[in-house]
Amino acid sequence: MEKEYIIAGNWKMFKTVEESVDFLKALNEKINTLPQDDAVEILVFPPFTSLYAVKGISSRIKTGAQNLHFEENGAFTGEISPLMLGNLVDYVLIGHSERREIFKEKDEDINKKVKTALKHGFTPVLCIGESLEEREAGKTFSKVEDQLGKDLEGLNLVEIEKVVIAYEPIWAIGTGKNATPEQAQEVHEFIREILQKKIGSPETTRILYGGSVKPANSYDLLRQKDINGVLVGGASLKVDDFFGIIQDSYKLANG
Ligand code: 13P
Repeated sequence: MEKEYIIAGNWKMFKTVEESVDFLKALNEKINTLPQDDAVEILVFPPFTSLYAVKGISSRIKTGAQNLHFEENGAFTGEISPLMLGNLVDYVLIGHSERREIFKEKDEDINKKVKTALKHGFTPVLCIGESLEEREAGKTFSKVEDQLGKDLEGLNLVEIEKVVIAYEPIWAIGTGKNATPEQAQEVHEFIREILQKKIGSPETTRILYGGSVKPANSYDLLRQKDINGVLVGGASLKVDDFFGIIQDSYKLANG
């Protein structure tokens, strides 16, 4: 059965404009060795400063922003508005755990950002996930349920269906310690159930796994029933590693 995938790279605060351009040119060359396959969507989240320069480098690689402000204009020094992202990106990452933990973003802000992204025609990639403490205390499911409830509050069914969810357990981010395919599948299935209760169409929501994904573990993660793709940090900064993960999705998409 054909399965569709999103393979996304979150570059975080890495890569200058020149490095971003060079990376995407090199990745594009590799991707062009693969047949066009609409079942795999390839996506990168470069820093804001690189978005304009990378536009148009590859018709097969989409781009997203790592954040956005929920207002369109105003006295918000250092923030980026949806109008500025204009036609630069298709996706926006919202509520990454680094934004929540380091920059103290609250579910309330995240909810506003999801709504703003949708209003401006971007596809939000909403990140959720539990800390190590929460997992050890048996609170994984209640944490993701709570985040989904608050972050998607007030959205109608059509809107919720457009949102991509990224399950990123905080203890697996940048630690080299990924969730096992079984651990990830279990939470993905649960997320799908929660969304089913909310929207009644569980098959369509795309749920990505993130946290120490690399070529060595991507195949086994991607073949899980409820995993529709991956959100890759560190390994998305190296062309060969990111391409290795893309190749795995190609193998599985039509398998
Ligand atoms: P790593 O792949 O480096 O663990 O990062 C995951 C992540 O935070 C993607 O958004």
